[in-house]
Amino acid sequence: MENNNLLELKEKALQEIEAAQTSDALNAVRNTYLSKKSELSSLTSMIGTLPPEERKSFGQALTEVRVAITSAIEEKANSLKNKELEERLAKETIDISLPGHSYNLGGRNPFYVIKDEMIQIFLGMGFEVADGPEVETDLYNFELLNIPRDHPARDMQDTFYINENELLRTHTSPVQARTMEAKKGAPVRIICPGKTYRRDDDDATHSHQFAQIEGLVIDKGINIGHLKATLELFAKKMFGEKREIRLRSSYFPFTEPSVEVDITCANCGGKGCNMCKGTGYIEILGGGMVHPNVLKMNGYDPEEYSGFAFGIGIERVAILRYGIDDIRKFYQNDVRFLKQFKKMS
Ligand code: PHE
Repeated sequence: MENNNLLELKEKALQEIEAAQTSDALNAVRNTYLSKKSELSSLTSMIGTLPPEERKSFGQALTEVRVAITSAIEEKANSLKNKELEERLAKETIDISLPGHSYNLGGRNPFYVIKDEMIQIFLGMGFEVADGPEVETDLYNFELLNIPRDHPARDMQDTFYINENELLRTHTSPVQARTMEAKKGAPVRIICPGKTYRRDDDDATHSHQFAQIEGLVIDKGINIGHLKATLELFAKKMFGEKREIRLRSSYFPFTEPSVEVDITCANCGGKGCNMCKGTGYIEILGGGMVHPNVLKMNGYDPEEYSGFAFGIGIERVAILRYGIDDIRKFYQNDVRFLKQFKKMS
């Protein structure tokens, strides 16, 4: 066979390779030119029939053509593979316009929203958070707070006893005694948020279980001005700058003097309305100067140290902040109630 024919064969093959638009088409070209039945293969098997002097150059020419076709096919195969991949990727893009699954996220109970906010306010004033057990002994719940056995003040809190000596704490005040004991005579500035229990008829404003934040500050030179300033700052941060507080004298066995603290009514601004029963004020907490007996019993010399304490009902604060009409709603987990506070948490 003439070398010219071989060149023609090569040109034809390269053109067909160039023209192939798909991998399948390219495979067909590969079959035509490189398979055992191809022209190139039958030419190769003819080498033996040629006169010896022509064999070498013809063989070389054949190899050169085979290599050229093979590498052209390989190159084209690669570029077709890339092209086909790109086309597939373009076709397979994810349709993000399809509606997704939505999750029904809950909100926090307003009780916890307010509790955390109250804690933040006191942390900002330099208080530490202390903790104590909910099952308390008579000693910490009453005795060390100047409420001996047979003291009439026990009546008001007569409560859930576990045995003669143990009860569910009736207030967070036992943490006062526990903290004084732990601090061993050093200055104190703590709050203690926690659950408390009292025998009570459950109604719109009472619950046998509720929560308080206790506060206790002991140092040299602490006076009732410090108590008032602390509670005034708390009231303004919690209820707004316009709120005023008022201290009324009261009685607790563990404070002397003792006070009830009222804030001006948000509803009428102090003029008197239904909500504040015409008084212009709403009671929010109890407090006072730590009784000298309490200081003494818990390891502080009342001649040297003085202090103030307070107890704030957390539900009460939440009720006033949000205008909630029934304390029991905090505990029922009714989603219709909880949903209303979703944005606040
Ligand atoms: N422990 C009191 C109560 O439960 C509140 C209180 C705390 C009063 C601290 C004075 C000082 O009502």
